[in-house]
Amino acid sequence: MATRELAERLDVRSARGIDSSRAMIEKARRATDDRCTFAPGDIADWSGAEPVDLIVANASLQWVPDHSSVLARWVAQLAPDGQLAVQVPANSDHPSHTCSAAVANREPFHSAMGGTPPPDPVADNVLAPEAYAELLHDLGFGHPEVRMVVYPQVMESSASVVE
Ligand SMILES: C[S@@+](CC[C@H](N)C(=O)[O-])C[C@H]1O[C@@H](n2cnc3c(N)ncnc32)[C@H](O)[C@@H]1O
Repeated sequence: MATRELAERLDVRSARGIDSSRAMIEKARRATDDRCTFAPGDIADWSGAEPVDLIVANASLQWVPDHSSVLARWVAQLAPDGQLAVQVPANSDHPSHTCSAAVANREPFHSAMGGTPPPDPVADNVLAPEAYAELLHDLGFGHPEVRMVVYPQVMESSASVVE
């Protein structure tokens, strides 16, 4: 859902967005209005000046390790009855990822990457759905809603997958 549409549906009065990429911050600024402010930052150690009603992290938490510590820090930032909405990919075992990992470990690609292909942050950092349910419950959410959604991403060709 587009950022502006989401802000309307949630009746957002003010929102603060952070991303480690300045390019993404600029893109987000263009997609929103002056209720939303943005700053470069690291979600791994984010903490706000005052409690917030809602924390949304879309397709970003997978980049940081130690989700139990990060989520505990975010939950501590919520106002009473505040909500946490997080989406992470869980596709490190999908052929698109296992194939690229296999290719990266083959020559000449392995040497081209200095003998150390980049790690897959999803495989390294993302927990199983039931682990998030337990973690959120332990953090005080009586009825955490953790869902695995499988959806198709239709591409024009196999070349598009590689791209
Ligand atoms: C797939 S994009 C999602 C961007 C945006 N949240 C959205 O939903 O369109 C992943 C984003 O995570 C950001 N990112 C990666 N590691 C981060 C970190 N440690 N702190 C903040 N942002 C990070 C990247 O710069 C990138 O913009």
